[in-house]
Amino acid sequence: METKQFILEDYKKNGSLGGDDIAKLEEAAAILKKGGLVAFPTETVYGLGGDAFLPDASARIYAAKGRPSDNPLIVHICRLEQLEMLAARITPEARKLAETYWPGPLTMVFEKTELVPKETTGGLNTVAVRFPSHPAAKVLIEKSGTVIAAPSANLSGRPSTTAAAHCIEDLDGRVDAIVDGGDCRIGLESTILDMTGEKPQLLRPGAVTAEMIENTLGYSVEVDAAVKGPLAEGIRPKAPGMKYRHYAPKAEMVLIAEENGGSVSEAMLEAIRPELEAGRRCAVICSEECADELRGLMPELMDRVTVKLTGSRKNIRQAAHVIFELLREADAEGIGFIAAEGSRERELGAALMNRLKKAAAWRVIYV
Ligand code: TXA
Ligand code: MG
Repeated sequence: METKQFILEDYKKNGSLGGDDIAKLEEAAAILKKGGLVAFPTETVYGLGGDAFLPDASARIYAAKGRPSDNPLIVHICRLEQLEMLAARITPEARKLAETYWPGPLTMVFEKTELVPKETTGGLNTVAVRFPSHPAAKVLIEKSGTVIAAPSANLSGRPSTTAAAHCIEDLDGRVDAIVDGGDCRIGLESTILDMTGEKPQLLRPGAVTAEMIENTLGYSVEVDAAVKGPLAEGIRPKAPGMKYRHYAPKAEMVLIAEENGGSVSEAMLEAIRPELEAGRRCAVICSEECADELRGLMPELMDRVTVKLTGSRKNIRQAAHVIFELLREADAEGIGFIAAEGSRERELGAALMNRLKKAAAWRVIYV
């Protein structure tokens, strides 16, 4: 299959859609209308979209990603009223969260209506709904005249895509079109909240943080076990996707986080030294401050290590923005071992640490 590319020139230059951009989004929307697949930018990561009401389009999404079909898709809307079509029961809490955080990086899970095909929800009776804020995503959905099922636009098991180049890498020849809207602002997938129970439950941390949700609702949210650590054998996570080893680089990875005042850089060197001696290609993913410390501690060793910077230690937004791209680079460079610096585990840091821990297959050293 030939994959068309629609480059949103004005949006990439000025951050707002121009007339040509809109015309390209109309063309892309026409592909969706016909049951085709289009990768498109959102404020979190790129999505791989198809008409959520067409079982066939969902089947093609699973095939294009190489994703198991029991892993449900998020349905993207562009107007609040569309939620009524999809969700059978909407609690006052859900309405409040929708009013506060939509459009934005929050996904909520509801009991589904008859209108939503089981193919889209991986056989579940529930549906995940998100109203993205990215202008290109909003226009694309609006022009398609339907609602759009979209998982992250990466091959199953690879890091999510945060730039059109990543989508091309993974999906060229497997989808009908890719819309290039530049880098995704946030860089981590949306927060997922299950709204079907008595209390909202956090299934995946994201840029709408647990602290923000608690502020809005006035009470604490429960956190699904799959967010905190590896699941015991036989336990199924609420978000089926959380059971797969997502976001996984090809390299073996260890995460080193400061908890008791220890030195992250010293622990990193300790982790890397035997790997270098064993002849593996090593990388560190860390803050500028940490990289400076590493070079000061052991300059000869650091000459043989690839250093990938996440920005200043205090800037968690920047780290979230670049992390998936850095993991992709490490793959492309054939890195065999990665030592990554952890962040604090509050607010956006909780989402970043969740992705880092999964990439490291939960191998964390606290110092
Ligand atoms: O930011 C995002 O959410 C991006 C952009 C494209 O919107 N999408 C995304 O989709 O990350 P995906 O498919 O890569 O991750 C969706 C997660 C999966 O872990 C899936 O299992 C879970 O959401 N999910 C979807 N529907 C669900 C449902 N009905 N109940 C529980 N979990 C659900
Ligand atoms: Mg994904």
